[in-house]
Amino acid sequence: MLTAPADNGLPLRVAHHWWRDAVIYQVYVRSFLDSTGDGIGDLAGVRAGLPYLKKLGVDGIWLSPFYPSPQHDHGYDVADYCDVDPVFGDLAEFDLLVAAARRLGVKVLLDIVPNHCSSEHVWFREALAAGPGSAARARFHFADGRGPDGEEPPNNWRAMFGGPAWSRVVEEDGTPGQWYLHMFTPEQPDLNWRNPEVGAHFEHVLRFWLDRGVDGFRIDVAAGLFKHPALPDSPDPEADERTRDSVNPLAWNQPEVHDVWRHWRAICEEYAAKDGRERLLVGEVSVPTPREHALYVRPDELHQAFFFDLLGAPWDADAFQKIISGAMQDIAGTGSTVTWVLNNHDQVRTVTRYGESGTGGSGLGSARARAAALLMMALPGSAYIYQGEELGLPEVVDLPDDVLTDPIFRRTGSRKRIRDGCRVPLPWSGHASPFGFTSGTEGARPWLPQPEWFAEHATDRALADTRSFWHLYRDGLQLRRGLPQFAEGGLRWLESPPEVLAFVRGDGLVCAVNFGTGPVPAPVAGTPLLASGPCADGVLPGSTAAWWISDSAAL
Ligand code: NOJ
Repeated sequence: MLTAPADNGLPLRVAHHWWRDAVIYQVYVRSFLDSTGDGIGDLAGVRAGLPYLKKLGVDGIWLSPFYPSPQHDHGYDVADYCDVDPVFGDLAEFDLLVAAARRLGVKVLLDIVPNHCSSEHVWFREALAAGPGSAARARFHFADGRGPDGEEPPNNWRAMFGGPAWSRVVEEDGTPGQWYLHMFTPEQPDLNWRNPEVGAHFEHVLRFWLDRGVDGFRIDVAAGLFKHPALPDSPDPEADERTRDSVNPLAWNQPEVHDVWRHWRAICEEYAAKDGRERLLVGEVSVPTPREHALYVRPDELHQAFFFDLLGAPWDADAFQKIISGAMQDIAGTGSTVTWVLNNHDQVRTVTRYGESGTGGSGLGSARARAAALLMMALPGSAYIYQGEELGLPEVVDLPDDVLTDPIFRRTGSRKRIRDGCRVPLPWSGHASPFGFTSGTEGARPWLPQPEWFAEHATDRALADTRSFWHLYRDGLQLRRGLPQFAEGGLRWLESPPEVLAFVRGDGLVCAVNFGTGPVPAPVAGTPLLASGPCADGVLPGSTAAWWISDSAAL
C-alpha cells in the first residue's frame, strides 16, 4: 500500500499495485494501424485502435519506440529521446493518445532505450567531430585500436546481431581513427554510463515522458548500460555470438547498473507520491542465472523483469512445468511477480513455433498456441500479449529476401531470418492486402507484404466468430479479472499424467493443459468454464487447455 499527499493535503491511497497481475498488450507501432496511408502504422492509428484493445480487456499497452530515428533497428536506434518521429506523428498526437487511453482506463508504457542511441543522435555527431580525447567522445566508448596502426578493434567482443562490436571511424582529417563500441549494429553506439552526463540525460528523458502522463517504461537491454571499465577481452567471444542472451560477463550485468534502477525507481515513486498513480518499470533482463535475474527486481529496483524462458520452451509438459516452477521460486521473496511472455517482436510466433507455418493456422500449432494462451492467462503474475497473438497469427515465413528489414538478417550474411515474420502489419478487415491496415486508397502497400491468408485472421472476422482466438483471449481476460481465485497468490500443482499440467489457483480454479495428442480424463468433472478447444464432459482432448471451478478441498 502506498500513501501519498494529494493536492488537498489529504493522503491518497493506491490500494492495488496494478502492475502485479496486469495484462499488457505490446503495440509494435509501425505494424498496428496506419492512419496516414503511407503503409506504416502510427500513433493516431494506435489511438484509433484503443477501443478494440479495451474490448479485448487488456490493462495497458506498451508502445515500441516511436522516437525520431533513422530506423536501422526499427526505432531501437533513437536519434532524439524527447520527440516523435514524423513517420509516427508528433507530440500533440502522443498527448491525444495518452489522454484517450486514460479515459478508457488503459495504461501506457513507453519503450526506453538507454544502452545505446542512434549514430544520428546529436551526441554521436558531436563525438565524431570533436575527435579523440574530447568530452563529447567520453559519452561513448571510443578507444584506440590494437595492432600496427590501430587496425585491430580494441577488444574481441562480438555484437549481438553478428560481427565485431567495434567500428572504426574516419577522423576529420580523413585518416582512419579510433574505434567505438556498439553491442548491436554500428548505427547503435553504446553510451558510456560511467559518464554522469548520460545518467543525467536519461533522468531528463524519464521526467519528460512522465510529465506527459505515461504510466511507466519497458526498459530495453536493462542488463546492459555498464561495461567492465578496462574493456578486457571476452573469455569466449564465440559463445557471445551464438546466443542472443547476454553472456559476455564483461559487457553485461555489471553491478553498477543496479544503482541506475534504484534511481529510476525513486523517480517513479516521487511521481506516484504526487498524484497517487503508481508507475511501472519493466526490464528486458537477459542474464545467465535466475539468481541474477532476481537481483533486478529487488524491492527498490525494477518492479518487474521479463521472464523469457517460455519463449524458448519446446511444447512439452515437463519443460513447461520446470520453467513455471522455477520462475515462481525465483520471484518468491523479491516482492515482484513473474511477467510471462509467449510472443514478442523478436520471436517466431507461437502458432508457428508450436507446429505450423505459412497458412491459415487451423491445425496443431494453432491448437497448442490457444492452449498456451489459456495456460499463461491462468498463471500468477502479469502477462504480455504481442499484437496479433490475440488473432492467432502465424509467422509469415516466406517473405522474400529483398523485403526483409531486420538488421540481424543483413549482419549475419542472410543466415538468420528471425524477426520480420512476426512484424508484418496486422489484418483488420477485408479479403485482400492491406486488410484495412492502412487508410490509403487501393494499392496502398504496408511496409512488409501481408500474405493472402491473413484474411482468415482479420479482426473483423475474429470478432464475429466466437470460436476465434480473439474470443478465447477476451473471455480468458474477463474471467481472470473477475474471478477471486485469480487474485494474488501462487499455484498448487495437481497430480496428472506425464503429458498433462494441472494446477489450482486460489480456492479452486483448476487449469489443465494436455500437451499430448490423445484425450485424457479431465481433472474435474463437468463442463469447463473456458476451454481452448471443444471439451466433452470429463475429457480433456489433446493439445487443449481448460479451466474449471472446483471445490479445492476435493482436489
Ligand atoms: C531488444 C529489442 O527487443 C530488440 O528489438 C532490439 O533490436 C534490441 N533490444 C536492441 O535495442
